[in-house]
Amino acid sequence: MENGENKIESLAIILDGNGRYAKKYNLPRALGHKKGCENLEIILEECVAIGIKYLTVYAFSTENWKRSKEEIDSLMDLFLLYIPKIRKKANENNVKVNFIGDISKFRKDIYDLCIDLMEETKNNDRSTFIVAFNYGSRDEIIRSIKKMHNDKDRDFDINDLTEEKFSKYLDTKDFKDPDLLIRTSGELRLSNFLLWQIAYSEIYVTDTLWPEFTVSELHKAIDEFNKRERRFGGRINEKA
Ligand code: FPP
Repeated sequence: MENGENKIESLAIILDGNGRYAKKYNLPRALGHKKGCENLEIILEECVAIGIKYLTVYAFSTENWKRSKEEIDSLMDLFLLYIPKIRKKANENNVKVNFIGDISKFRKDIYDLCIDLMEETKNNDRSTFIVAFNYGSRDEIIRSIKKMHNDKDRDFDINDLTEEKFSKYLDTKDFKDPDLLIRTSGELRLSNFLLWQIAYSEIYVTDTLWPEFTVSELHKAIDEFNKRERRFGGRINEKA
């Protein structure tokens, strides 16, 4: 790394461009997704090695169900093969895996793998890998409001709700909000990803397709982050 230091504790990535990668190399779309999964293993390992404590990736959105049946089926088959690989990588690297989103909508074999993976890695404590899986930010917020409404142990009146109290009902309640959001493949939108949590995150967009997003490009994004001055809504060099 240029500055020799990683200042990021929490990183989020929108993994985009698997389809375009397949098209670029004249491959079936499923192979683009497979390449994307393989790349994720490499980037996960590097994030852990450089001390990133939370890595959140957008693996399957609530909107992705609108894709063709053929593509959905091939993605589900890929997840079935791939989750055990993540399990191995997580255990080798002392990484806890969590899923955010409504995973109950996946078929049972995939749902069971997710539950087992969370259970098996729950005591790993070097980093946390968070997979957004059937995740949509608006869906998360609506589910959180319902959770809060139905919480028998809630010890405050809704009129006393604060941002901090509401955050405790989100899927991400145990994680730090992202310092940096990376989006690959050049689109300049958030696609319903972590809308609440990225309120003050820095954003880095690259034209590189996800399967071609290398460790050195990850370091480039981190260097860029290190140069930015985060203001959290305040003014530059604000004096008391
Ligand atoms: C977007 O490419 C990517 C996806 C739909 C997700 C694929 C999932 C992974 C790479 C990781 C899965 C990880 C786990 C742990 C299950 P796209 O098809 O939108 O690309 P395009 O915009 O170029 O068509």
